[in-house]
Amino acid sequence: MHLFDSNKVNFELLKKRAFNLRWAELPDDVIPLTAADPDFKSAPEISEAIIDYCQGQYFSYGPSEGLIGLKKSVASFFVSKRNVPAAYDFVLPVDSTAYGIYLTCKTILNTGDEAIIFDPVDFLFKHSIEKVGAKAIPFSIPPNTTKVDFHKIEHLITDKTKLICLCNPLNPTGKVFTKSELITLGSIAVKYNLTILSDEIWSDIVYHPAKFVSIASLSEEIRNKTITVTGFSKSFGMAGLRIGVIIAHNEQHYKSILDHSMHKSTIHGVNILSQVGAIAALEKCDYWLEEFVNHTKKMRDLLVREINSIPNLSCIAPDGCYVAFVNIEKTNKTSQEVYEILLNEAKVAVVPGLENWFGKGAEGYIRICFSTSEAILKESISRIKKCLT
Ligand SMILES: Cc1ncc(COP(=O)(O)O)c(C=O)c1O
Repeated sequence: MHLFDSNKVNFELLKKRAFNLRWAELPDDVIPLTAADPDFKSAPEISEAIIDYCQGQYFSYGPSEGLIGLKKSVASFFVSKRNVPAAYDFVLPVDSTAYGIYLTCKTILNTGDEAIIFDPVDFLFKHSIEKVGAKAIPFSIPPNTTKVDFHKIEHLITDKTKLICLCNPLNPTGKVFTKSELITLGSIAVKYNLTILSDEIWSDIVYHPAKFVSIASLSEEIRNKTITVTGFSKSFGMAGLRIGVIIAHNEQHYKSILDHSMHKSTIHGVNILSQVGAIAALEKCDYWLEEFVNHTKKMRDLLVREINSIPNLSCIAPDGCYVAFVNIEKTNKTSQEVYEILLNEAKVAVVPGLENWFGKGAEGYIRICFSTSEAILKESISRIKKCLT
């Protein structure tokens, strides 16, 4: 199969449709290796399912708690692929993983509460915690950490702590947490009666021999403290369809999340077409995902090898995610300066390791997304090389 050959990238459509710091928002001569969004078309089964639904020509209100078919598909995915005994009636489709994170924060946190987040990590956690009036407390996991000692997180726990945000695999460093790390983290949550928000949106993008473990699979006690959030943007290129899911593991969590979601009043809720697309992704697109991960693994290996051949840049191969977190400290420039040089001179856009994107621990790094074609990646690397050497 040649799903991810270089000639499969449709620049004309990307220029019109790929926003969020990507093709449609940047000058024509800039290659965006920014937001983690594939440059390839999604699987045909997704659009076929949506078209098929459209042909019925009814776009009536859907069920406020989401299509039963989607809830069942998600639950059976967790049972069969994540070893998590998920119940379909505790699965709530929401209008993006980002909203799932926010909604979990809104459900669990009150004004003045504290929530622990990793540093560096995607900005969505801090943003969501602060939007509900709580405080984000960073737990440092430097980019080259191989083994995290989660016992150290105990030093950050106060009587205001209510939530620990786990991002696994970890965007932007690509760390995939081991079973023993997760057991320690889960035991701490149980010991201090804290909820774990487990964001698993990257869990399909994991490179052999690393193995993804869902924290809710570890024990009933840990599962009971966990709210799992995931989505389809990273695995299936469905970011614009704005859909994610929250998987509660007990009735109290589910009811409280549903209540805070406002789905019952129709103020929020997932577009029915997105739900239809997500069912197709889960039920028919494993072959596509497998090829896609094979492709991103090749791109990872290419990018990491080439980056490490550039003087003053270095990078460890991420075990998960399709982003590389590149150390730029030896350039004696800040992340923002390197970002600007690459944008203006190399015409390659990356994400600078700024506090507002990833937390304080990201300084000295830039993030490069590699879910693109070999031709685009090679061209980007050659521009970066020319510019920085
Ligand atoms: C860790 C993490 N969570 C959530 C999201 C957002 O996903 P969605 O597009 O489903 O809102 C992203 C996107 O980059 C992410 O990296």
